[in-house]
Amino acid sequence: MQLLVNVDHIATLRNARGEGYPNPVEAAKVCEHAGASGIVFHLRKDRRHIKTEDVYQLKKSVQGDLDFEMAATDEMLDISKDVNPELVTLVPESREELTTEGGLDMETVFDDFRDRVFPAYADTNIAISLFIDPNKKDIELAADLGSDAIELHTGTYANATTESDKKAELDRLKEGAELAHELGMKVNAGHGLNLDNLEPLVDQVPHLNDISIGHALVSSALFYGLNKTVKKFLRIMKNPNN
Ligand code: PXP
Repeated sequence: MQLLVNVDHIATLRNARGEGYPNPVEAAKVCEHAGASGIVFHLRKDRRHIKTEDVYQLKKSVQGDLDFEMAATDEMLDISKDVNPELVTLVPESREELTTEGGLDMETVFDDFRDRVFPAYADTNIAISLFIDPNKKDIELAADLGSDAIELHTGTYANATTESDKKAELDRLKEGAELAHELGMKVNAGHGLNLDNLEPLVDQVPHLNDISIGHALVSSALFYGLNKTVKKFLRIMKNPNN
């Protein structure tokens, strides 16, 4: 299991004043130095946090895995192929949302992904991951497409307010992870994870590969510093890098 730190909100803070700091590339270096196995960013259509130039700088500087999170638009397909990250994670995206609100509806995107998106990466070494909710149908359709990985959407678990809702969602994530693994896909997870809700997830959901964490990690870093915060997350994941 490895931690990939999402640096979008370092860029959010930078963009709030339009100065060059804090720099997501420098933050990525600190995260990797602290033991993170790689870096994630979401290049949105509206460029509200990460900008296109950041992507190329991150590609130059990141030593571990680079996960390019994006909507499957032609523009993003072109940029991602030019950047050549280890992994592309495809997500739904709407302009109005504050953050990604749920997984892909695989039934809706299936034909387009089969005919346009997956063939676009056929001549590359870029692995593809699909961000989906832990539903049997969505996971099976991801496997039918030949996806290398799925990223299980943990937002519903993170937002659950009662113990029984949390447990129900953890059970769904566990079953989803088992099914995806059986179908030969890597299992990643992310969204809404923090220092409090990470441990039950990593203890109870099997086969986890990449864990992608951004907003809460950057927020905790205001209090503990980025290096210490990454180490705190790694300790919860019982990651030997720490
Ligand atoms: N994974 C995906 C697919 C996401 O869209 C996001 C948010 O950008 C994350 C993980 C990270 O979520 P958070 O910022 O809540 O840790």
